[in-house]
Amino acid sequence: MSNADSTTQGFADRVQSFVTENKRAILIGTALAVAAGGVALYASASSPPKSPGDKKDRRKKSVKPRPNDVESGSVIEEIPVENQPNFGVLTKEQLETMPSEERVKLAAALKKKGNDHYQKDSFEQAAEFYTRAINVSPTEEPVYYSNRGACYMNMKPPQFDLIIEDCDKAIALNKDYVKAINRRANALEALDRLEEALRDYTTATILDGFQNEKAAQAVERVLKKLSSAKAAEIIKTRDPHLPAYTFISAYFSAFRTRPLPPLPEEPTIADNALISALNALQVADYTHSWSFVMGALEEGLSNDTLKAEALNLRGTFKFLINDVKGAEEDLLESIKLIPSFAQSWVKIASVYMEQGNPERTFEAFEEAIKHNPNDPDIYYHRGQVHFIMNDFKQAAANYNKSTLLDDQFVFSHIQLAVAQYKEGQIANSMATFRKTLKAFPERSEPPNYYGELLLDQGRFQDAIDKFDRAIELEKTKTRQNVLPMVNKGLALFQWKQDIGAAEKCCQEALEIDPECEAAVATLAQLSLQQSKIDTAVELFKRQLELARSEPELANTLTYMYASIAQKTFLENYPERKQAFSAMAQAMVP
Ligand SMILES: *[C@@H]1O[C@H](CO)[C@@H](O)[C@H](O)[C@H]1NC(C)=O
Ligand SMILES: *[C@@H]1O[C@H](CO)[C@@H](O)[C@H](O)[C@H]1NC(C)=O
Repeated sequence: MSNADSTTQGFADRVQSFVTENKRAILIGTALAVAAGGVALYASASSPPKSPGDKKDRRKKSVKPRPNDVESGSVIEEIPVENQPNFGVLTKEQLETMPSEERVKLAAALKKKGNDHYQKDSFEQAAEFYTRAINVSPTEEPVYYSNRGACYMNMKPPQFDLIIEDCDKAIALNKDYVKAINRRANALEALDRLEEALRDYTTATILDGFQNEKAAQAVERVLKKLSSAKAAEIIKTRDPHLPAYTFISAYFSAFRTRPLPPLPEEPTIADNALISALNALQVADYTHSWSFVMGALEEGLSNDTLKAEALNLRGTFKFLINDVKGAEEDLLESIKLIPSFAQSWVKIASVYMEQGNPERTFEAFEEAIKHNPNDPDIYYHRGQVHFIMNDFKQAAANYNKSTLLDDQFVFSHIQLAVAQYKEGQIANSMATFRKTLKAFPERSEPPNYYGELLLDQGRFQDAIDKFDRAIELEKTKTRQNVLPMVNKGLALFQWKQDIGAAEKCCQEALEIDPECEAAVATLAQLSLQQSKIDTAVELFKRQLELARSEPELANTLTYMYASIAQKTFLENYPERKQAFSAMAQAMVP
């Protein structure tokens, strides 16, 4: 596991807690609720005390509408001929000469016939009577269409296109018709028209004041289906590209530098290309490093030592472009050539972890240790795996071992402090951090991560001081790491609710490093906080380009689709904007 993994992990955690702490931002329902773990928001939002006079029982809903799902209305008068099979079938002339009140009465009677059939599960006949009611009625009645839609829903097989047509009509006549909106959502979902289904479920949830648990669950279900399908599609179709510079450099800096491999007396072009690749890596020119190593392997290297080295590097790039299978192949091949290649074993461990196989991960570490028991990288990376698995005690022991073997690697110190913190040893953690700050006065990482822990403890001023120090140290570099700037923005927001200042920090970070995913993600959340949904959606799109793995993509898509659904709601129901905000306010814990 790389250091980059743990930093992004940490960031996801922070966004998560940011989201939990700022339910209002997110309130708005669907979007963030799901990303924050789903039910939390609805759990709190869905159980305000019901007023005693509330007669509507919203829990009475099911996909197959029960008979009482069909509105009966009041029938004023019985029409004697109503049992004739062609009852209500009128010619154009008959209709035109019939007085309007007569037509209203006849339509109501036809609707009642429809209801009777519906209750007896004769859905074909029921639909026929609703059609007659529609033809006879002098006015367009949404309930006739909605009821006929219910019939189509219960036919075998259900007539989804007809349901949608009738619900379209009913909703066009009465846009607050929640029952019709939910029914159309069911049909759309069945037809896999997920974006439209999400729009309808979201609308129904909001119109119901977030009280309908079923609709809320439907929102989550459809969001999940939609996001994971879309994420898989993006991964399949997009060109493989390296992740952001910060991510790669964090990944490579999690391995100590090794000497260049010895070249034969008469090196081939391929041998020299490998050396160029490794030199490019040293100066963080990843694009060239990648193309050099690809070339070297295509040309064919002089011997197995060089070939194993090249496969290790190409496998690493494959891992970084999320080609986990390809990475596995290269790394295994490299070990086959040189079985004692500890770094390849460590990277294989990362691959197994990415594949969700901790058992093989730890076996790979054991193998690495067998060949080189004093390699500090092995223990550091094994610590990372324990850390990710929430075993902070083992993580700390491994970081400590790594530090004992070589105390010049700043991340094993930082991660030890963070593991101690997670384990609840706050005083030890703070002490480790203070020692690390002293030992690495020129590095920005110790103040940055120390600042994060201070922020977690609500020590805002201290945290901001540390972030400022980290920013200052980064300013002297040619490629500046902007994470401390984003952290400062988050701190200013959490401390003073100063959205303007927080946004400024993130924008500054993006000017320096346009690929900083943390800055984009934070800006998106801040936009949602201010109900600037359009801006948020644009930022989510940008985040999609920066996201590396499928789960990251799916997570971003969840926010994006939820935001779009809310945006659509506000466009369709501008008059409800106020009520919507009030509802949002009421959800603040
Ligand atoms: C490859 O060549 C280098 C330089 O001659 C040498 O040091 C190394 O041992 C060789 N590796 C193998 C596996 O023969
Ligand atoms: C690290 O290991 C050494 C040697 O086993 C031990 O003395 C020390 O207390 C450990 N430090 C931490 C912080 O766990």
